[in-house]
Amino acid sequence: MKTIIRAAQEVKKNAYVPYSHYKVGAAVETEDGHIVVGCNVESSSFGLTVCGERVALTSAIAQGYKSFTSIAIATDDGASPCGACRQVIWDLCGDIPIILIDKKGGVTTLQSRELLPHPFDDSSFHNN
Ligand code: THU
Repeated sequence: MKTIIRAAQEVKKNAYVPYSHYKVGAAVETEDGHIVVGCNVESSSFGLTVCGERVALTSAIAQGYKSFTSIAIATDDGASPCGACRQVIWDLCGDIPIILIDKKGGVTTLQSRELLPHPFDDSSFHNN
């Protein structure tokens, strides 16, 4: 748990946030213990901004990982992931612990199922 928390705190420093100045670092742990990180990257066309959680998860998928056991998210205020990220976490990870870290190192852990009750579930139309 310490490692994934440190990884999220560390990658938060790389966030590209010239508009909001709100940094997000995320780290996802794979079933075999690898850690893949991501940070938010903003665009001058604001809607193109990508969240840290989705950068971490899409990078992990691109690296060939398919199964995830937890995700850690570091922000200044220990915020929960946005609705879009909750859906993507559910799609790619199912019910996993989501570890929220604030700038003082305070940790709160919630399950993705708690954060997305009654989810839209894509399992009925994919087979890999
Ligand atoms: N952001 C994330 O990276 N993850 C979330 O779950 C919510 C919001 C980013 C997007 C934008 O760069 C900044 O935080 C402020 O919304």
